Amino acid sequence: MKVAVTGANGLLGGEAVAQLAGRHEVLAVGRGPCRLAAGPFAWADADLGDGRSVEQALRAFGAEAVLHAGALTDVDACEREPEAAWRVNVGGTEQVARACRALGARLVAVSTDYVFDGTAGPYGEDDVPNPRGAYARTKRCGEEAALLLAPDCAVARVAVVYGGRPGAKSTFATQVVEKLSRGEPVKAFSDQQVSTTLAANGAAMCLELLLKTAYRGVLHTSDATVLDRVEFARRIARRFGLGGEIVPVKTAEAKLLAPRPLQGGLRVERAATVLRSHRPLAIDEAMDRFHAEWVLRKTA
Ligand SMILES: NC(=O)c1ccc[n+]([C@@H]2O[C@H](COP(=O)([O-])OP(=O)(O)OC[C@H]3O[C@@H](n4cnc5c(N)ncnc54)[C@H](OP(=O)(O)O)[C@@H]3O)[C@@H](O)[C@H]2O)c1
Repeated sequence: MKVAVTGANGLLGGEAVAQLAGRHEVLAVGRGPCRLAAGPFAWADADLGDGRSVEQALRAFGAEAVLHAGALTDVDACEREPEAAWRVNVGGTEQVARACRALGARLVAVSTDYVFDGTAGPYGEDDVPNPRGAYARTKRCGEEAALLLAPDCAVARVAVVYGGRPGAKSTFATQVVEKLSRGEPVKAFSDQQVSTTLAANGAAMCLELLLKTAYRGVLHTSDATVLDRVEFARRIARRFGLGGEIVPVKTAEAKLLAPRPLQGGLRVERAATVLRSHRPLAIDEAMDRFHAEWVLRKTA
């Protein structure tokens, strides 16, 4: 099958390409040159923000299924540059959805727990979004663009993505490991309740949703455990056998530009009924896999 992945240089998209390569005919779509390890996939340099180039790349490839994982994911940068956030997160999703519509391709568009305001989480798929801030609002509009324009579409929401794949970008989770390993203290928000998503498992759930189901609408595809960020850091430290100081801080103290949902998190019971081969991981299982990825990364 011809499967395309946008955001292919990213955490989730990169995992998806690695899992698809060799099993399907794969087009990896990203901005600029490919930063993934070489493999049996084609690369298209196309900009989600330019109005047509991703749409053209997908149409030229003749995609039959698309995982749309590309986005401007820096929440504070989106707040500083709302027009760029709109162009990429709404316009880019529109490009992808239009191509899927024209090709009759199935689409899974990846979205976020930030579509909720974080006053009463964890949230299920039927809870009403109330996005705050430019990132959240553009991602919510992107969800609607995908669902409206692509007839065969599911939106997969993830949260706090992390992974240990070689070359994967730095995240809160990898910073916890690196700082504690150097004997430095780690600051973590004590008042942000979140879900997390091990990128490899999130990608596997999204791909199963895309290729093995006909499910349409929103599905939550994060890890299963809802916890605050201090507890997340502690779980990482414990699994990696790292001592050191984890310093609880309040979100307001950090004076961040964009608002953060405080009582957030995703309920994932539905994923267990829709998916057969992959499921949301409990935190201990997720930590075991993250640790295994890290060991591989260090020996790669
Ligand atoms: N990261 C999280 O904690 C998180 C939480 C909730 C939801 N999500 C959602 O999960 C999905 C995957 O994100 P991720 O975690 O894999 O983040 P990521 O590592 O930042 O990946 C996003 C990718 O999109 C690419 N991109 C950005 N602007 C682009 C443009 N104008 N044209 C083409 N590509 C562009 C980026 O390219 P470069 O690599 O060149 O910058 C990056 O590779 C996104 O929909 C995101 O909103 C992420």
